[in-house]
Amino acid sequence: MALLPILQYPDERLHRVARPVTAVDDELRQLIKDMAETMYAAPGIGLAATQVDVLLRVIIVDSSPGHDQLMTFINPEIIKRSGVSDFEEGCLSVPGIYEKVPRAERITVRALDAGGQSFDLDADGLLAVCIQHEMDHLDGKVFVDYLSRLKQQRIAEKLRKQRRRTM
Ligand code: NI
Repeated sequence: MALLPILQYPDERLHRVARPVTAVDDELRQLIKDMAETMYAAPGIGLAATQVDVLLRVIIVDSSPGHDQLMTFINPEIIKRSGVSDFEEGCLSVPGIYEKVPRAERITVRALDAGGQSFDLDADGLLAVCIQHEMDHLDGKVFVDYLSRLKQQRIAEKLRKQRRRTM
């Protein structure tokens, strides 16, 4: 197990598109374990492989109150969506920033699990929002990309200042 460094906005590498996983093997399962350790340590409720500089379509989510229900989605696809919700979102790559983003309220997602088996999951509420947020990362999209250009510039500047202070 290993903690992986999380790319920090506005790192250009967060804007790359991840490629589909072609083999669910031990190497991939090790990545998922390391991602889980990294997410729980942060702590966060979701993480995409893009955020740890791995360009594979893998996300993990655990929005359970006890932080004990890890869900893995490999090559996830949303096959149904309905409704509108606007939760305030945060992101491990954009620390300390919380903004509302328009999302579907209910989704059905199809993916492979860590055993390589296909499954469909109906999700709503926080879980649905979290899955959509993490899936965006796989397409090179960070939640602040939904905000106005001015707001994005302010956030990038604020994060740069924060980082200078902590170095
Ligand atoms: Ni994120």
